[in-house]
Amino acid sequence: MKKHDYILQTRGIHKSYRMGATEVKVLKGVNLAVEEGEFVAIVGSSGSGKSTLLHILGGLDKPGRGAVSFEGRDLSRFSAGELNRFRNKAVGFVFQFYHLLDELSVLENVFLPTMVSKSVIGWLGYRRQARRRARELLVQLGLSDRANHKPYQLSGGERQRVAIGRALMNAPRLLLADEPTGNLDSATGNGILDSLEELNKAGQTVVMVTHDERIAQRARRTITLADGKIT
Ligand SMILES: Nc1ncnc2c1ncn2[C@@H]1O[C@H](COP(=O)(O)OP(=O)(O)O)[C@@H](O)[C@H]1O
Ligand SMILES: [Mg+2]
Repeated sequence: MKKHDYILQTRGIHKSYRMGATEVKVLKGVNLAVEEGEFVAIVGSSGSGKSTLLHILGGLDKPGRGAVSFEGRDLSRFSAGELNRFRNKAVGFVFQFYHLLDELSVLENVFLPTMVSKSVIGWLGYRRQARRRARELLVQLGLSDRANHKPYQLSGGERQRVAIGRALMNAPRLLLADEPTGNLDSATGNGILDSLEELNKAGQTVVMVTHDERIAQRARRTITLADGKIT
């Protein structure tokens, strides 16, 4: 028997932002459950709270009320160290605007999450292995001849594939993608969706948020976020 029914589950997630005297209620009781191996798209209009929700799912932000469980464990009970490891190892993030570091090469951008998770000594011992894994990921993502480029020398689609490589570097159990094609033309965006689909077929659990119904349909299951709830 499995230790947990869902890789990810939320119960009654609420989130509000205070803007001066007014409180803006963004999430008003989000319940969702994702099984291991799923490719789920959460679709909602701009401003519906998709990024807010994704950040909460990945432990980058905390809900005002409600709970997130990862593999059956409540994130709010994680110690600071556990939460850091969760964000660095258990989940991988892909964002609309890539967030790559232009001073670093493509290869260095990919292995960065492993580097920051190690002590200096730990990193020295692990460096070769990390570089090997980063190279393998670049091959898998069709970027083997871009390893020594800088991000600004790449096209948008290539940059997003580097960001996917970085997200996968620590072999996360859950990949979270926030409008991963939002900054790309539709052909390039489709290539990114092909990559996500391929990863999912190989067993990767993926949760993607998007405002675009057609992009959402590339996932195996679509859920809708509207008025602060899953409808
Ligand atoms: N840090 C913040 N402070 C105040 N309001 C915020 C903050 N982040 C998001 N919001 C507001 O919350 C709502 C949802 O934002 P967001 O989650 O980014 O939506 P989406 O990703 O679906 O476009 C928007 O109205 C936005 O202005
Ligand atoms: Mg957003």
